[in-house]
Amino acid sequence: MDQYLPEKVNINGEQFRVYLTQEEIQQRLKQLGQQISQDYSDKKPIFIGVLNGAYIFLADIMRYVNIPCEVDFLKLSSYGDEKVSSGEVHDLKNIDADIKGRHVILIEDIVDTGLSMNYLYSKLSRLEPASLSIATLLHKQDATKHDVKIRYTGFKIPDLFVLGYGLDYAQEGRNLGQIYILEE
Ligand code: IMP
Repeated sequence: MDQYLPEKVNINGEQFRVYLTQEEIQQRLKQLGQQISQDYSDKKPIFIGVLNGAYIFLADIMRYVNIPCEVDFLKLSSYGDEKVSSGEVHDLKNIDADIKGRHVILIEDIVDTGLSMNYLYSKLSRLEPASLSIATLLHKQDATKHDVKIRYTGFKIPDLFVLGYGLDYAQEGRNLGQIYILEE
C-alpha cells in the first residue's frame, strides 16, 4: 500500500495543504545524514529524539547516517490541543542513557519559540556530554524568541501551523507522509 499523501487534509475543522513533499524531505535528510556522518566520522554520537513529534524524522535521518551511532528518547509536554505554545515546558520522560562524555545530537521536529530546545539544551548540558548539538527538521525562524544554537536545520518555514510526518494537531495527522501547512 502507498503512504498516506493526500493533496489536502481537513483536521479538527481546519484545512491544510501540502507544503513539503515526501521527496523534498528525503532529499534534505540525505544531505543532513551525510553532513552528520562527516562531522562525527571519528565519533559514535547518540541521537536523542524528542517525543512524540520527532520519531519519524529520527527514524529516517538515522538511516542516512553511515557511522556507528546510538539512539535514546525523551518526552516533553506538548502544545496540548492548541496551535500556540502554552509557554511552559515540563518533562514527561527522561533519557535512560548515560550521556556523560558522549557526543549528543538532539533531534527535534520543529523549533518554534525555541523554549523547548533552550530548556533541553541547558538540562542536557548539566549531564556533561562531550558535545551537544541540535538538529531540527523545521525552524519557524520568525517565531523564535529564545536563544537556541541549531547546528542542523532541515527547512526554514514561515510562522504558520504545520502538521504531518510526525507532527500533530490535537494528536492527529502524524501519519501523513509529508508536511502540510494551514491554509490562510
Ligand atoms: P517551542 O518550544 O515553542 O519551540 O515549540 C516546540 C514544540 O512545539 C515542537 O516540539 C512541537 O511539538 C510543537 N510545535 C510548534 N510548532 C508546531 C506546528 O506548527 N505544528 C505542530 N507542532 C508544533
